[in-house]
Amino acid sequence: MTDSIYREIILEHSKNPSNRGTLDPADFTYEDTNPLCGDEIRIDVRVRDDHVSEIAFSGQGCAISQASASILTELVEGKSLDEVRGIGKEELLDEIGIPLSPARLKCALLSLKVLKAGVYGVEHAAEELEDV
Ligand code: FES
Repeated sequence: MTDSIYREIILEHSKNPSNRGTLDPADFTYEDTNPLCGDEIRIDVRVRDDHVSEIAFSGQGCAISQASASILTELVEGKSLDEVRGIGKEELLDEIGIPLSPARLKCALLSLKVLKAGVYGVEHAAEELEDV
């Protein structure tokens, strides 16, 4: 695909994002900010049989951060938590598809950072419960 098609994908996702909103209750929720700009993304996830059954994101940010969060939620819906843990930044950046400056990389990867922290939080919580 050419850069311009990717740019249209970003624009489309930022105008009409998938899975925008919140889930209440959720099995886990995590939020974090991009330290460069203070923009915040929150991700809520419902888990069924160790798989992401529903996911939603909310928060404020630039077009790249919002489009990236939308693309990420589509990418992980239905995946196992193990598969989510295995998603690398290259996979998300491949989906975004356009070259990004270091500052824009932080925007694009904010949602992945939030999701990973949430997933690892669940694992640690589960480990702690095993000890009880
Ligand atoms: Fe804040 Fe992109 S400028 S997330």
